Amino acid sequence: MLTVNNQFPGPEIRVKQGDSVNVTVVNKGNYGVTIHWHGVRQPRNPWTDGPMNITQCPIPPNTSFIQNITFTTEEGTLWWHAHSDWSRATVHGAIIIEPAEGTLLGLPQNTPSHTIVLSSWYNGDVMEIGKIADTYTGQGSIDSDASTINGLIGHYKTCPWSSSHIVNAVMNQNMFLSIARHNLTVVGMDGAAVKPINTNYIMISPGNTMDALLTANQDPGLYYVAATSFFNLDNSTGFDNSTATALLKYDGDYSEPAYPAFPHDTLPQYNDTQAATKFRIRIRGNVKQSVPQDFKVRYYITNTVTTNRCHNSSCTGVDNILTATFNNISFITHPISILQAYYENKWTDIFDTNFPTYPPFYFNFTMEDTVPEFLNAAPNGTHVIMVEHNDVVEIVLQGTSLGAEDHPIHLHGHSFFVIGRGHGNFDPDNDPMFYNLDDPPLLNTVTLPKRGWAAIRFQADNPGVWYMHCHLERHATWGMATVLVVKDGDSDESKMLSPPHYMPPCSAE
Ligand code: C2O
Ligand code: CU
Repeated sequence: MLTVNNQFPGPEIRVKQGDSVNVTVVNKGNYGVTIHWHGVRQPRNPWTDGPMNITQCPIPPNTSFIQNITFTTEEGTLWWHAHSDWSRATVHGAIIIEPAEGTLLGLPQNTPSHTIVLSSWYNGDVMEIGKIADTYTGQGSIDSDASTINGLIGHYKTCPWSSSHIVNAVMNQNMFLSIARHNLTVVGMDGAAVKPINTNYIMISPGNTMDALLTANQDPGLYYVAATSFFNLDNSTGFDNSTATALLKYDGDYSEPAYPAFPHDTLPQYNDTQAATKFRIRIRGNVKQSVPQDFKVRYYITNTVTTNRCHNSSCTGVDNILTATFNNISFITHPISILQAYYENKWTDIFDTNFPTYPPFYFNFTMEDTVPEFLNAAPNGTHVIMVEHNDVVEIVLQGTSLGAEDHPIHLHGHSFFVIGRGHGNFDPDNDPMFYNLDDPPLLNTVTLPKRGWAAIRFQADNPGVWYMHCHLERHATWGMATVLVVKDGDSDESKMLSPPHYMPPCSAE
């Protein structure tokens, strides 16, 4: 397996707000890779953001690439991961950002802290598994063989634990997590403060991170920490719903084998949509940034997973290939990065700006039965969303019955306010009246509910080229993605930076 510094999960990066960090990525693997700093805004600097063929080409084996990461307003837990092929399965780690002054997210001074990284384990070669998902696929190819907690399936840690940094680095499943007989108080999510939520389980999607406080107020002993998939795809019996466990052990003098461990009886079932919703609606923001009260442009994006067409450019119209879309377009990349093509003003053959504002068809998104024929022939395309610097952008994400499960949708370069969420079809006349414009959470990944919608709003204040995609790896592979291009502003400080002179070469050059 490909690892970073021989560790799985990879090394944790600890920084302070305002820090700027140079990471030299030395690729000693057998194939090209890229690294992304998930949730770090990277002001004006998409050049080292990482997604393959979006902002850079892969770093070839036996070469290196220096990436500059600047931390501005983020606080708490984020993470880094490979952003090429399926490499992120084993190449990822946590980032902890302390405030420049005061304590982390207002937690008590000197709270001991501990990091929990949830990951996927595959018995096979992840590169091969990713290729199978991209050319011909079925459930078997994307099933992981286990989920892990800090790289292990069963794992001991000694107390005291107090604050926990939780990262969901799993490839294809949302996760529930609980700790026997203990509540967690979630105080941060996606590198921003949330109003404290006291709970006996959490639901966390791939891409999301959380900061939580645990009070060790039980009798000394052993307590199960458990994580299981939350997977609510229609007609599924669940895939890889095995439970990963660890033990929380209080400091003390008692012998382990004889001592009983308390079971994880508050962990919801793998398909408990209600439990997921119940947790999700409690998330409220606690941030200083002001919420934009109106929008300049609204995009309306439907998410689908369909079959019967060929996403990969090398296959020739074979049947039963899965594809995924935004607005019925399956996103494809090219051997030169979109960022480079944009910067050099040579993009006519690479992409266009015709990403539709509305889905190009009428469709009852929540219908259960017949799928209109034309949706089975979603075209490939590289259409981007291009907005002016500082535009307030609203995106209404609409889940459909085609691939009806919860999709974690992630945007690079910006965090966004999640101002609304609901079941069924979004109603543009009524639903906005119930938006939360007071204390919406500021996230970088929103879990779009199954057959429901979510509305996000943000100011496009970060000039550059930013990937937006489902963070379920198989859906991103199949094309559930687009790119947001934020144009330069007028002043020098609102223009994208120029590239470092040592960008990894693209094969088209
Ligand atoms: Cu966590 Cu596009 O990434
Ligand atoms: Cu998805």
